Parts: sequence; structure tokens; C-alpha cells
Amino acid sequence: MLTNLWYVAEWSNKVKKKPVKVKLLGQNFVLFRDSKGKVNCLSDICIHRGGSLAGGWTTERDCVACPYHGWEFDPEGKVQFIPSRGEGADIPERARIDAYPTQERYGMIWVFLGDLPEEERYPIPPFPEFDDRKNWRPIYTQFDWTGSADRVVENGIDIAHTAFVHPGFGYPEMADKNHIASIERTEHSGSSSCVLYPPKLDGNLGLNRFARKDKAETHVHPGFYLSGHCVRLHIQVNSWMEMIIFDANTPIDENHTRSFVIQVRNFFKWGMFDRGSVKRTQEVFEQDAAIVEALSPNYLPESLENEVSVEQDKFMGAWRKVRKNHIEKGWKIDTKAMEPFEGEKVFTIPSPARRTNPDLRWALDTVPLVPGTKRQLDAVPVTENRSA
Ligand code: FES
Ligand SMILES: [Fe+2]
Repeated sequence: MLTNLWYVAEWSNKVKKKPVKVKLLGQNFVLFRDSKGKVNCLSDICIHRGGSLAGGWTTERDCVACPYHGWEFDPEGKVQFIPSRGEGADIPERARIDAYPTQERYGMIWVFLGDLPEEERYPIPPFPEFDDRKNWRPIYTQFDWTGSADRVVENGIDIAHTAFVHPGFGYPEMADKNHIASIERTEHSGSSSCVLYPPKLDGNLGLNRFARKDKAETHVHPGFYLSGHCVRLHIQVNSWMEMIIFDANTPIDENHTRSFVIQVRNFFKWGMFDRGSVKRTQEVFEQDAAIVEALSPNYLPESLENEVSVEQDKFMGAWRKVRKNHIEKGWKIDTKAMEPFEGEKVFTIPSPARRTNPDLRWALDTVPLVPGTKRQLDAVPVTENRSA
């Protein structure tokens, strides 16, 4: 699991005034909305006696109160009020927990889990079609996997599995016709263009059957972003029907992933088609889960030595490369190093304030990280092309 990235913690409409507990990267966090409507994210562990802030309430000071002794934490994680000491009493400087940057985008709450300053963070992935309601209609769903997020992302951008795992997407006997036409990679993302030959479309009251001939050349553009461990799958069904599946794949812990999924389509934009759309998207995730949850190992191997790859796996290689670069910067959580402390000690993800307040003796230790081998990367985009 990787720190110093934006991740989706929850849907925007799930977080109102009442604190909400979420788990990401194996740690608990509390989300709460203040009186200005801004969502805040704090470590869920009260540094007084370990209370879970998510069990508390929001206060008039725009704080979240711990349910154990009522200490109030502001959006920056600083204690503003200790009821047992009373109004106006001194607050110890160490009475502070980690607070994480938040943004709301695409109806999702994004939290930055790491200590990098703003200018060094990879951006939240673009999704311009989401805001273009005139041309695109969205549906929302989510999916929980018993599997690691890196495997889930790899599955999402893998075109060679579609003919085998998703009967609606292709024919196993035509697997050699599917191909990757181009790949592009940046320091933190990748995109590709592929050609597939799927069967006629099913669903939408049978209207889809007129949309595409059997085995017609279909252009699919898978993409990934390290931010949010997002996958974007743009499918050009025919000359006038397109859909984009955008999912943020949040690592809950090492072997659990929650996908926050938005699908937009530029056809049949009436609400009566939404239910069918959600159902078909869920079916696709279920087909994938049956495979991904049975993979060995259940995480992405760090080296290619124990696997055999072929040409069609090239785009997955781009994802692995981008992920590896981040690990080499020293931002992978060393979960094994935490194991001996299980049940004895808690850790927290370092927040940006740790860098700006290096002299503060923070109450909680930060998660151990696998030492990096480099700090800087070539930011030059790599482009590979071959004719289709
Ligand atoms: S444990 Fe949170 S106020 Fe005491
Ligand atoms: Fe799939």
C-alpha cells in the first residue's frame, strides 16, 4: 500500500454533519463536514486515551468531539477544548492529531494520505465528461473486493482477459485478434488504445442489439492513474455510442479494496435505463472478482521473475512501472514491520503538518515505510506507438 497519494474515502452524499468512520491503507480515519460545508479528514485515534473520534459528534467550534472525554479537535487536528480543564485553559501543544487535505470531486471525497506539500502531489485524475451533463449521463455504484488494490487496477486495464472472463465482451477463439494499438505513460498515469471484437450488445430493452454488429471492430481506451488507483475505461461502442467507466480503487487494507465506480454514457440518457446500467456494471465486477480474489499471490509481485508476460500484457507493465517508481521514492507502507506491534501500538499516516512542524513531539508514530532507492524521477512522458 502506497502513501503520498489522493484516495477516495467516501461518496460526498454519505458525509453530513455526523462524523463518519472510514478505513484506508489499514488505518482508521474520521470524516466530518463543518459549518462551511467543508469535509475534513482526521486520524480517528484520539491522542488522549485512544477514543475513536468517529463515535463522537461535531460541535459549535467546528470541531469533532471525542466520545470518551469530549476533547474537541479542529479541522487541522488541533485540540481546541478540553472539557475537564474548562473554557480558556491552556491546551498542551502535543494535543494534536494528523489532519489530511481533502477535496470533493465527481461526488467523491478525496483525501491526500501523506505528508507531501501541495505542489508536489500528483493531481486528482481528470474526468471532464462527468461535468458535461448535456452529453453524458452518470450512474454510481461501488464494489468491495477481497483482494489487493494493485491487482484490482491491473485487472481493470487488462484487455486479454475480457474474452475469457466477460462473455459479453468477446470470443475466446478470437483472442489473438484483440490488440493494443498504442500506449502512453507519464510519471503517474498511463493510457492506451486497444481494438476488440465483441459480440452484439445485450440489455437496454434490446435496443442495443441494433447498435453494433457481431464481432465488429470496437475501440477501447483503458487508462490508469496512481492517484486514487483509478482506472478509466473508455469504450467506443460504435460511431455514436460511448461509455466511460471511471473507478477509484481504494485500498482498505492489504487484502481488501473498495471500488467507487461512476459510469457515464452518451446514449439512452433517460433515467429508465440507469438501473440496467448499474446491474450490468455490477455483473462485470462480479465476473472479475471471481478471478481476482483467487489469484496467487493476492498482491502484485515486485519483480517479474516469477511470471511470464507477453506482448498483450504491455500496458499492465506500464502500471507496474509507475507503481514501482513510487515505491522507489520510499512511499510503500512496510506492513511486515508493523506486525510485531499488533495489538500493542498504533501507527498513523504522516500528514503535511509533520513536515511543517518537525519539532513537535507528535503523540503517535507514523507507519514504517520501505526505504526508497531514489527521490527523483524522470518526469519525461514515454510514448510508444505501433500501427494497429
Ligand atoms: S480518549 Fe478522547 S477525550 Fe479521552
Ligand atoms: Fe474485467
